[in-house]
Amino acid sequence: MSRPETILVTDDDPRIRETITEMLNLEGYRTLQAESGAQALDILACDEVDVVLLDINMEVMDGLETTRRIKSDPSLRNIPVVIVSGMDDSESRIAALQMGADDFLNKPPHLAELKARVRSLVKVKAYHDYMLNYQKKLEDTVGERTRELRNTLEELALANRKLKTSSLSTIYCLSRAAEYRDEDTSTHLQRMSHYSATLAEKTGIPEADREMLLYTTPMHDIGKIGIPDSILRKTGKLLPREWLLMQEHTIIGAKILEGSSDEFLVKARTIALTHHEKWDGTGYPRGLKGEEIPVEGRITAVADVFDALTTKRPYKDAFPTDRAFRIILEGRGFHFDPALVDAFLSVKDEILRTKERFSEVPDIFDERGETGAKLHADR
Ligand SMILES: [Fe+2]
Ligand SMILES: [Fe+2]
Repeated sequence: MSRPETILVTDDDPRIRETITEMLNLEGYRTLQAESGAQALDILACDEVDVVLLDINMEVMDGLETTRRIKSDPSLRNIPVVIVSGMDDSESRIAALQMGADDFLNKPPHLAELKARVRSLVKVKAYHDYMLNYQKKLEDTVGERTRELRNTLEELALANRKLKTSSLSTIYCLSRAAEYRDEDTSTHLQRMSHYSATLAEKTGIPEADREMLLYTTPMHDIGKIGIPDSILRKTGKLLPREWLLMQEHTIIGAKILEGSSDEFLVKARTIALTHHEKWDGTGYPRGLKGEEIPVEGRITAVADVFDALTTKRPYKDAFPTDRAFRIILEGRGFHFDPALVDAFLSVKDEILRTKERFSEVPDIFDERGETGAKLHADR
């Protein structure tokens, strides 16, 4: 049930208050009475009022000051104020208008005039209340929807992060299935993929593509799964026939990863196929030269060889990092893209931090190691 429309009658003359109150009650309004402006404000602070009728001349607080206070209070300013004054009091009427009063009534008021003014002002107040209510509801709804949307986005971001982490773990596990048959250590893939991403960042490759490298480079040697153990695990020099078979791991890898239009697998396939191509055209399987080699293949070559050089293998110890960086530099323009070598050497510190982060064996240099390292770098 809706609240009865309430009129606050303010006048220091009890006879006037009673007369007006009686008229309004007959019209069905709920009425409240105040004998001063101060008392009117007290009532307004704790009761809901739709129209205030204000006498001008009152002792404790006059109608002008009361109007000023009502109209300057954001919680009250929408309540219509009607000044009730004598016809001869035009100066006060003008002052009240300037204070924000909404209407006037002559004293003593005529029934018809009182009814008409109050009715129209009650409607104005109801309209204001409706609009305020509507606006508040709208703000609440927008706020609620925004919270829901934010929660959903946070959940989505979390799920996405979890999915990425688990995808990367899956890639490492599956790729290691191939690598484990080789001499690579279990952290080789983590190091070389992070080296690749760091190198890509230095060369200005966009973040999304760098992330793609982090996920796809671990699959570079996935084709080794199709190479017999007798060749894969041979520590000595391969016979020409064995060497040709060994080179096939790039093509086998590409075959494993082909057949999908998914950008991720397309990139992984490119890397598997081209990570042994060399800048001067002496690499395999196709002898591509310079920028004919896709950039992801060129990046993987630098990262993969550097990690092979700096890692202990059954047939060799790890090279000191200075020597490994020197060997990379020697391959500038021959094995590797010159610009990538320059970029790689300019982020040495970051590369060494990554090496430390995924380290599993101490760096011990042994003179006998170089031939073995070069063997891996070519396979
Ligand atoms: Fe390889
Ligand atoms: Fe590798």
